[in-house]
Amino acid sequence: MKRLQRLRYSKNLRDLTSEIDFTVGQLVQPLFVVEDLLRDEEIPGLGDVKRHSKDSLLKQISNDLESGIRQFILFQVPAKKLDSGFSHKYSSEVISQVKKEFGQAITLWIDTCLCSLTTHGHCCVLRDNGTQNLEASLKEITSLAKSYAEAGADGISPSDMNDGRVLKIREALDGAKNGSLEHIPIMSYSTKFSSHFYGPFRNAADSAPQFGDRSQYQIDVRNRSDGINSSIRCAQEGADLLMVKPGMTSIDLIKPIQEKTGLPVGAYQVSGEFAALTTLSEKGLLKFENALLETWHVFKRAGAQYIITYGARRAKSLGVNL
Ligand code: PBG
Repeated sequence: MKRLQRLRYSKNLRDLTSEIDFTVGQLVQPLFVVEDLLRDEEIPGLGDVKRHSKDSLLKQISNDLESGIRQFILFQVPAKKLDSGFSHKYSSEVISQVKKEFGQAITLWIDTCLCSLTTHGHCCVLRDNGTQNLEASLKEITSLAKSYAEAGADGISPSDMNDGRVLKIREALDGAKNGSLEHIPIMSYSTKFSSHFYGPFRNAADSAPQFGDRSQYQIDVRNRSDGINSSIRCAQEGADLLMVKPGMTSIDLIKPIQEKTGLPVGAYQVSGEFAALTTLSEKGLLKFENALLETWHVFKRAGAQYIITYGARRAKSLGVNL
């Protein structure tokens, strides 16, 4: 009799027929650094992922390196909020110090957005009447991206969703003196939905919008075509890596985007998705690490090339290959 279960009988047989394989090299660990912070602060829902001072950030990276993590994405929270003319000083110091200490052992992606920098918490520069000023937003985003790259960032990750940002950033990087930033890749948050699953992150990054929401510039979850087209547009503008976000609620889009663009597509397991696991586990309703690994396997099955996850630093202990 045809038995589908025969190949599930032992672990060896399951391993033999496993269709996915991935390594810690495909996991990206998010990090938060907060100017003027005296000691680390917990972030509700995010387990051992903390808000760091510059010094403790360096220690954390060093520990993570020992766990085999090589990819990091950094979120920076400045002490002072502004509406435009953002300062590059603090972030340049942090980035150059991290790169000075760890060099090529790590790849440091910098989340590039305005929501942690602005008084109003929106990802763009606003006009007096509260509407998005696209031209001014692109200017600010581009100048931040260039300063991050000049400070030593290995890659730029624009998460702001301002139309045309990837093209402007690419032009700025390529236009730098002597082609010195031509090699810096752009990992675009290319399919980024307006989502309620960003809650824990917004506490950590102090970036919640002070009025309204982000539905005027992030994608409506009901719209598959907008989701796919936004990634296609980023590919056309020169993005090197694409992403769906929130990852778990967007896995249906990974393959179509990959097929249409030919580019690697990653998934961001966002803060609310991760916090759902930590919260269920705190209530004794699941085993955290097993559930986490299960979600990563599903991302890989869905075709994600890389995964941004707050749990990356646990990968080694979960048996993910280095
Ligand atoms: C900044 C940004 C956000 C996230 C990553 N970059 C929040 C937002 O768009 O409001 C969310 C990440 C997470 O929830 O883990 N724009």
